[in-house]
Amino acid sequence: VEVVIVPDAAAGGELIAEAMADLLRRKPDALLGVATGSTPLPIYEALAAKVRAAEVDPSRARICQLDEYVGLPAGHPESYRSVVLREVVDPLGLTEESFMGPDGSAEDVAAACTAYDRALGEAGGVDLQLLGIGTDGHIGFNEPCSSLASRTRIKTLTERTRTDNARFFDSLDEVPHHVITQGIGTILEARHLVLLATGEAKADAVALAVEGPLSALVPASALQLHPHATVVVDEAAASRLK
Ligand code: F6R
Repeated sequence: VEVVIVPDAAAGGELIAEAMADLLRRKPDALLGVATGSTPLPIYEALAAKVRAAEVDPSRARICQLDEYVGLPAGHPESYRSVVLREVVDPLGLTEESFMGPDGSAEDVAAACTAYDRALGEAGGVDLQLLGIGTDGHIGFNEPCSSLASRTRIKTLTERTRTDNARFFDSLDEVPHHVITQGIGTILEARHLVLLATGEAKADAVALAVEGPLSALVPASALQLHPHATVVVDEAAASRLK
């Protein structure tokens, strides 16, 4: 795993946005896997700024989602589909047509998971997958003890993750208990994995993922299996690295 330490979150966002812009210059129809949560927002802001400055043309880019809550009504502002449309697709001047994600409101969730896994393959695979990391070491919503070979499937969120995500909802009660997430095996099929972690709260998880043993107890340690994985950390998130 290649580790890059940057001074702060804005610098991390800029660095990764430039890598994405570079990919789009080489492969204009690249499939970009995006993550939600707070961490990647500086990436999306920096990339949108590059688009406004005409440094890159994203018009043929395709965007796909990492994970989704199960059971939120369609169009709920905190469904990850809504979040990705608002934070990524719209600011890049793209439409819903360029976007693919798992259907969290499907009646047959298992079928929706299999269909999404298949759709990613049929789309040619993810060229660059952005990842965040949970304080418990999760990637996507593969919580500790997820199989390192897992495919897209339904998972139950840990109480720690629900509490971490309660800030996006009016109360903890409203945070869904279930999610659809790309499996770790699915994530590892992307050609380039780029994980951004910022802030002191992520320091332990980052150290375990990068320097600890490969273990299903720390799903992000699966990046060690990937031939092209980059971990971008600010000084605070790097503070427990040896
Ligand atoms: C979100 C996702 C999660 C987050 C992680 C960190 O799509 O897959 O793994 O990346 O929970 O969230 P933040 O960035 O909000 O700390």
